[in-house]
Amino acid sequence: MSNVDQTTKMDPASGPDARAEVGGPILLFFLVGFALSLIVGWVIFPKLLYSHKKQPVDYNHQLHMEMDEIEDCSSCHYFREDGSFSGAPKLAQCIDCHDEILSDTENELVFYEQYVQKEREIPWLIYSKQPPCVYFSHVAHVKMGKMDCVTCHGHIGESTSLPVYQQNRISLYSRDIWGHNIAGIATNTWDRMKMDDCARCHVREGVRQGSVQTLKGGCFVCHH
Ligand code: HEC
Ligand code: HEC
Ligand code: HEC
Ligand code: HEC
Ligand code: HEC
Repeated sequence: MSNVDQTTKMDPASGPDARAEVGGPILLFFLVGFALSLIVGWVIFPKLLYSHKKQPVDYNHQLHMEMDEIEDCSSCHYFREDGSFSGAPKLAQCIDCHDEILSDTENELVFYEQYVQKEREIPWLIYSKQPPCVYFSHVAHVKMGKMDCVTCHGHIGESTSLPVYQQNRISLYSRDIWGHNIAGIATNTWDRMKMDDCARCHVREGVRQGSVQTLKGGCFVCHH
């Protein structure tokens, strides 16, 4: 009996050693769990949260911008006399050239057969679409604020293809409003168009805040 006692006492390493053996699998268990939660959080969750939609017709900005008849962006996205912005182009702006088939792409065939021939407007999906409670004015920013389209929209105007439209299944917002980075990191001015992004620039630029002076400015600058 005393012999056994002595061996246990004489082997001071046995305690910690045994714990280290149990500790290995536990550490591994935590690392695997941690890795799994990262995958769920960064890969699977965003896939579930956003539905992906293709535009009804793809549109190649670069191809059209190279044509002599098209001078600049305002050939399609222009300001009306009353200062309102035309936004996404109407079919009538395409028909001048597209009253016949001009290329051999499958994409143009869809465009021609489904929309031109049937005289149906293309239901474009709007990446920057704000919820109805938000008031936004292009004249204030582009004409008075002298801002470039790129500041808010990025480089769509130079692209050869329209991006996939992603819609948040819960808020129904376009993904471009809250941004593509799940951690909420924005490196470019066009990565996001959330309330805080609008407000931050307004504070920086000293935009008239209405009668209420708060960090976000008077709510009624952007909400009517
Ligand atoms: C010949 C017509 C045409 C011209 C010229 C044109 N665009 Fe477009 N643009 C389109 C069409 C069609 C769409 C697809 C509709 C949409 O996604 O809103 C579009 C979409 C866009 C969008 C996406 C808006 C959103 O939130 O959905 C931006 C931004 C844009 N154009 C910027 C530009 C810029 C900048 C230029 C000039 C460099 C330009 N466009 C020139 C036809 C044109
Ligand atoms: C100034 C004339 C002109 C206008 C305006 C114009 N297009 Fe085009 N478009 C062309 C020409 C020319 C081609 C063929 C170019 C080629 O294949 O080299 C073309 C090609 C296309 C194609 C097929 C090419 C591809 O990449 O899929 C689509 C789709 C298209 N246009 C859509 C539109 C839409 C939508 C509008 C209106 C918002 C529009 N175009 C306005 C001249 C025009
Ligand atoms: C200060 C940021 C800002 C700038 C600068 C800006 N836009 Fe926009 N744009 C927006 C926002 C926000 C919306 C969505 C508005 C809404 O949903 O009421 C929008 C919407 C659009 C749309 C879609 C409109 C629709 O619903 O049919 C087009 C096309 C567009 N912008 C093109 C342009 C072009 C071209 C320029 C440069 C001449 C430009 N924008 C400059 C922020 C901006
Ligand atoms: C990059 C800077 C910037 C961003 C981003 C921006 N704004 Fe602005 N905004 C301005 C400036 C500058 C003005 C004032 C232009 C002027 O009148 O000279 C303005 C003016 C306005 C006005 C008109 C205010 C008035 O008194 O008439 C509204 C409405 C507005 N912005 C809404 C928005 C919304 C909504 C967003 C986000 C979707 C937004 N803005 C994003 C800079 C910005
Ligand atoms: C500079 C422009 C701006 C100002 C000022 C502003 N908002 Fe917003 N607000 C937005 C935009 C853009 C959105 C939509 C994008 C988002 O959810 O961030 C929004 C969204 C909201 C929503 C969510 C609505 C929905 O349908 O999801 C609420 C609530 C709201 N704002 C309240 C306020 C209040 C209260 C104030 C005043 C303290 C205020 N806002 C000031 C631009 C503004």
